[in-house]
Parts: sequence; C-alpha cells; structure tokens
Amino acid sequence: MERKISASILNADLLHLEESIRRAEQAGVDMLHFDVMDGVFVPNISFGMPLLQAASDLSDLFMDVHLMITDPIRYIEDFAKAGADMITFHLESVSDPFQTIRLIHDHGCTAGISIKPNTPARAVLPFLEEVENILVMTVEPGFGGQSYMHHTNDKIAQIRYWLDKSKHKTYLEVDGGINAQTILEADAAGADLYVAGSYLFRSEDMYAAVQSLRHMEATR
Ligand code: DX5
Ligand code: ZN
Repeated sequence: MERKISASILNADLLHLEESIRRAEQAGVDMLHFDVMDGVFVPNISFGMPLLQAASDLSDLFMDVHLMITDPIRYIEDFAKAGADMITFHLESVSDPFQTIRLIHDHGCTAGISIKPNTPARAVLPFLEEVENILVMTVEPGFGGQSYMHHTNDKIAQIRYWLDKSKHKTYLEVDGGINAQTILEADAAGADLYVAGSYLFRSEDMYAAVQSLRHMEATR
C-alpha cells in the first residue's frame, strides 16, 4: 500500500515555524499534522487556530488537524476557517460523533475519528462509512517522542480488515512513535497514513528520513 506521510509540527521549532514547514515541503511530505491539545482531554496544552492559520497562509500543504480536546464540536467551524483540510477528533471526547462528523463535512473538510491505545477497535464500527480517516493512536496522546505501543498492531489489522470489506475510501492513520523501524509493523498491520514528528524534525536530512519511511522494507 502506498504510504502517505504527515509531518507533526508538535516537536518542530515553533520559533522558526516557516523554516520548519519549508523543510517539510522540500522533504516531500504529503501533509502537515497539527496536534491540538486542551490540557483536559490530554495532560498537555499545545496550540490552536492562530498557529494553523499562520501555517495555512504560508503553505499549500494539506492540513491534517488532530483534535485532542474535550468537546471538539465547539471548535470545528474555527478550525475549518483557519485552514484545516481534514479534522480528526477522538471518540473518547464528549461530542456526539455523528453530529461532529456532519459539521466537519458541512464546512467542506474531510472528517476523521481517532481512538486511544486502549479503546477497542469495535468503537469505530458505526462510523466506517461516515468518515474519510480513522486514526489509531500508537502512543497515549499528549506528547511527542514516545515509544510505539506494539499491542496496537492487532487493532490496526482488525480495522484494515473491516475497511477492505467496505467500498468507502478511508485512510487508516497511525500516530505516535513512528520511525523507519516501527513503520514496518504498522504497514504490515495495514495502515496507510503515517504521522511522524520527532523522527522527521530531529533528522539531519528530512528528505532522507521521509524516503526511509516511504520505502523501508522488512528484511529477514
Ligand atoms: C501525540 C501526537 C503525535 C505526536 C507524534 O499526542 O498526537 O502526533 O506529535 O510525535 P512522535 O512522532 O514524536 O511520536
Ligand atoms: Zn497527532
């Protein structure tokens, strides 16, 4: 399966955001990933609409917005206006998922749902035909730079099985601890959209790092 790469700016140098975004563009990423955190849904606070607006004003990259916030439906309009192309929210949040998905679509964005590492795969079943992205967290949401949780592979594989049976076109995104090694596990399990933060932004040569994510093959 072709691997799409979404660069998470959470651990990029925000003082030099333009430079970070240009690096990601030149490295050939497919998307920019925005981790929005409210300090309640996750134990960390990151950034919100103004940063997304600034980024979308200067780049034509596809803006992949990941809302780790308690009541996402309240902010869909704001993120859509700030330049989001895809908005993914958590099923563990308090917002009604069907209404939230509808609102995202009404604002012209593609819609995604996300589950944390310990939420069972079956939670996504009612939404398989409703969304364009299913994001399986491969770390506990909140911080970049954590290690990939291997037990999530079975869940990715289960969701891939369901998606393959459906005619609806949906990304299967993974987020957290992705590098040139762990991508092999997620790839084998059936993911096709990969968020990478520290692996890309801490690399000396981001182009080479993106190539390694796209083309790394398992060796025996
Ligand atoms: C974690 C975020 C991730 C994070 C990934 O809550 O959702 O997008 O930035 O960072 P790495 O790739 O460093 O694990
Ligand atoms: Zn994320």
